[in-house]
Amino acid sequence: MTQYAHITGWGMAVPERVMTNEEISRLVDTNDEWIQSRTGIRERRVAGSKDTTTSLAIQAAQRALEVADIAPEDIELIIVATCTPEYHFPATACLVQDAIGATKAGAFDLSAACTGFIYAVGMASQSIKAGAVKSALVIGAETMSRVVDWKDRGTSILFGDGAGAFVLQGSETAGGVLSFMMRSDGSGGDLLSLAGPGFAHPPGIDGLLDHKIQMKGREVFRFASRVMVSATKEVAAAAGLRMDQINVIIPHQANRRIIESAARGLDLPEERFVVNVDRYGNTSTASIPIALCEAVEAGRVRPNDHLVLVGFGGGLTWGALAVQWDVTRPPEVSRWHQVERQARYGLARVRSFGRRVLRRVEGALFGSQASEAGEPPKRGEKK
Ligand code: ACO
Repeated sequence: MTQYAHITGWGMAVPERVMTNEEISRLVDTNDEWIQSRTGIRERRVAGSKDTTTSLAIQAAQRALEVADIAPEDIELIIVATCTPEYHFPATACLVQDAIGATKAGAFDLSAACTGFIYAVGMASQSIKAGAVKSALVIGAETMSRVVDWKDRGTSILFGDGAGAFVLQGSETAGGVLSFMMRSDGSGGDLLSLAGPGFAHPPGIDGLLDHKIQMKGREVFRFASRVMVSATKEVAAAAGLRMDQINVIIPHQANRRIIESAARGLDLPEERFVVNVDRYGNTSTASIPIALCEAVEAGRVRPNDHLVLVGFGGGLTWGALAVQWDVTRPPEVSRWHQVERQARYGLARVRSFGRRVLRRVEGALFGSQASEAGEPPKRGEKK
């Protein structure tokens, strides 16, 4: 029995705060004209004090679940692609799992810089096609503003915050994710890097760790322009599609000039590419799902359209997906349904709290796990 992996839900979330080029020009020696002409970016969203990678991921996930009209308990796999996880562990995916009450899901984070979302959708669709899971939630979520060096005009102008999510579900109906490719080239790792152990605290707090993005912009530009073309061609060919059969291309939103260069390299009109880098900057793993959400909202993606989603990023990494879009429009969600969903999330919070309390009670009654597990006694103790 052939399994196909269909994208049945999509959602996005961005912080409220808009940061314009004008505002950045008060922090570093730059100006709106330079930024717009070299990158196409006009403004970006920046996380407020209450926004975190997880909170944005949860909002995007809840919207995607609503569009797919699937209960969190029916999700079996959650992958969060991110460059800015809250911790090395627990995975941001586990924090999302707990918050939405996806009680039957395995959850992990995936690190492939800005290509992470493409890798993650590829992995999730393969898991579905192999029959390992029936449904998956894939999220790209970032708070890049917390790892940008606001004194570096070469990078601070580029990035923004946000999250996007897809629900993928298995079906016997042909379509959905048709093909997938991923590549890497670690020899270019130094072109784009972000050191540091994690981001639960503001970066650079002790002055010892380098928590800021480092980038060799021109080299990344050349690499990106090249692989956007090769990856798009490869994934289309693998799906048995000619380039003129691709209706919409959703590229990673890093720089408008890179997208223009890819259009020239593919000999396709620029109108076929979805571009929203002007309003969000580069939101890394979140950029492709956010662009898709806006394209669907704007009616640019129609049933049976063939799409290519293509990304690149640090690592170096790159990858692409060819997709046959098959959702007419999101189902109408009744008021009652919305209330029911909110009640479920409330219940998830209660469940999470209850489990924590239970663990404390167990700890008080039975002592620590370590002594139960027969750990070697500490020095001076008798066994
Ligand atoms: N404002 C004004 N002048 C600037 C700025 C700025 N913000 N930044 C650089 N300049 C100056 C430079 O100092 C340089 O001046 P000089 O000629 O006197 O030396 C001049 O402008 C040209 O600098 P370049 O770096 O050559 O400018 P370029 O046209 O390459 O644009 C940019 C720089 C926008 C960074 C571009 O190279 C780029 O977009 N690169 C790709 C970045 C990218 O895609 N990153 C993806 C990250 S994905 C991930 O995984 C995180």
